[in-house]
Amino acid sequence: MTRHFLRDDDITPAEQAEILDLAAELKKDRWADKTLAGPKTVAVIFDKSSTRTRVSFAVGIADLGGTPLVITTASSQLGGKETPADTARVLERQVAAIVWRTYAQKGLEEMAAGTRVPVVNALSDDFHPCQLLADLLTLREHKGELKGLTLSFFGDGRSNMAHSYALAGAMAGMHVRIASPEDYAPRADVVADADRIGASTGGSVVLLTDPLEAAAGADVVVTDTWVSMGKEEEKLARLRDLGDYKVTPELMGLADDEALFIHCLPADRGYEVDAEVIDGPQSVIWDEAENRLHAQKALLVWLMRQAD
Ligand code: CP
Ligand code: NVA
Repeated sequence: MTRHFLRDDDITPAEQAEILDLAAELKKDRWADKTLAGPKTVAVIFDKSSTRTRVSFAVGIADLGGTPLVITTASSQLGGKETPADTARVLERQVAAIVWRTYAQKGLEEMAAGTRVPVVNALSDDFHPCQLLADLLTLREHKGELKGLTLSFFGDGRSNMAHSYALAGAMAGMHVRIASPEDYAPRADVVADADRIGASTGGSVVLLTDPLEAAAGADVVVTDTWVSMGKEEEKLARLRDLGDYKVTPELMGLADDEALFIHCLPADRGYEVDAEVIDGPQSVIWDEAENRLHAQKALLVWLMRQAD
């Protein structure tokens, strides 16, 4: 059966663990698995800029014996003359999977509804589920068990990253704290979904406005840009509104002594995080960036297995 990965909760907790196990396995020998030999082609489409996602999908597909076809929306008919559903019907006759970075989640849903091949969300305005697989893999490597860890996110709680931490974190049995101003709190329906997931895994999501309360004793400290792609016009308001949620050495000092710092990157040093933290000893951002490769390869292999 074709499975899609449009949101973090398109997989079950057991499937999330299975994909993370597979990622750890694939990481041991990058060229051992040739699931995409043929070579099969995977379309990787970008409506927004990217460094990590573009490179890690292209390299990962090649590692698996496949051919990456990287397309920018500006140079295709998608987004202008052609709907996601029609694009999907064209692509499915020629590619093994479609990976798409876009704005509206609805476009991804239309793409998935129109095709028999797996569709993967490579970041939308609402979720960044591939990033979460890499983040969870990184935390597993550094902390062992994910279940029971407290992860505190600071800043734009309505961002794709905060939403994905809520869903994927609860799914992994983690206690996710999201610290943001009230106007930047996560969407209520996403929190409700995370609560439902947490009820079965022992995980939880708590929304806070006090950054000090959110930092206290945390095992993992996370932030993201205050100005996500597509929000550039709100930049001045966001810098003003989110200023109290900066991750400083003082905030980091309230977390557990062994706390890790992660950030999906790209980062604005001096805004959402001070250089002393992101470039300091508790930061594991380069492992996190590398793990995009391993996690996404595992996801592709897993999706291909479901389709067999
Ligand atoms: N973290 C992430 O998705 O980075 P890119 O925007 O460079 O792909
Ligand atoms: N929230 C950020 C993540 C970038 C990887 C954005 O959407 O721009």
